[in-house]
Amino acid sequence: MDQAQKKRQAARAAIEFIEPGVRLGVGTGSTVNLFIEELARVRDRIAAVTASSRETEQRLKAAGFEVAELAETGDLDLYVDGADEANKHFHLIKGGGGALTREKVLAAASRRFVCIIDDSKWVAVLGRFPLPVEVVPMAQSYVARQMVRARGQPILRKGFVTDNGNVILDVHQLSITNPPDMEARFNQIAGVVTVGIFASRPADVILMAEDAGIKRFDRR
Ligand code: 5RP
Repeated sequence: MDQAQKKRQAARAAIEFIEPGVRLGVGTGSTVNLFIEELARVRDRIAAVTASSRETEQRLKAAGFEVAELAETGDLDLYVDGADEANKHFHLIKGGGGALTREKVLAAASRRFVCIIDDSKWVAVLGRFPLPVEVVPMAQSYVARQMVRARGQPILRKGFVTDNGNVILDVHQLSITNPPDMEARFNQIAGVVTVGIFASRPADVILMAEDAGIKRFDRR
């Protein structure tokens, strides 16, 4: 099975979490795009849906969904999203698509967070994937210096502006051995909007597609 097929499998597996009357949050990325395609089959079960990015909003609308704001839906029953990396503690790196801030808000507002990945995303230690950090534009060089002090190599994502009007620093060479600690420390840096470490609000369920099928992990 190639990676695209695995992403499709993971997206399909998430459909069983869509219960009647669900208030649903939808993440961003290529795996989620496949999930949106699958979602049409269970349209009747969805009471309300909100999106973590303009791109997802457009895709949901194109699939015939009416997309609400989080302010309208209130807290969510379920959030489904992909990840750039995941570990056995249900900690994630997210933000490869640049939607990390809204993704973090939807994950925080949700009772259950189901993460859909293929097995290339599974790691022992987070940090092989460059850590996305959303930054207020005028703070970009200051935050970059703080990242160098933390032994990272920040690279500005060129030509990219987030849905919130900010920029992204992709921080290479970090070995994230204590994700909750690094998330909390980087969150304290002035000018940082969101760190792409999802540890204080980890995933609740990981559905990982591998050659043998779907592996499901549940956080206790
Ligand atoms: C977007 C994200 C995505 O979940 C992450 O980049 C994974 O994307 P894909 O499903 O395309 O591999 O965090 O901000």
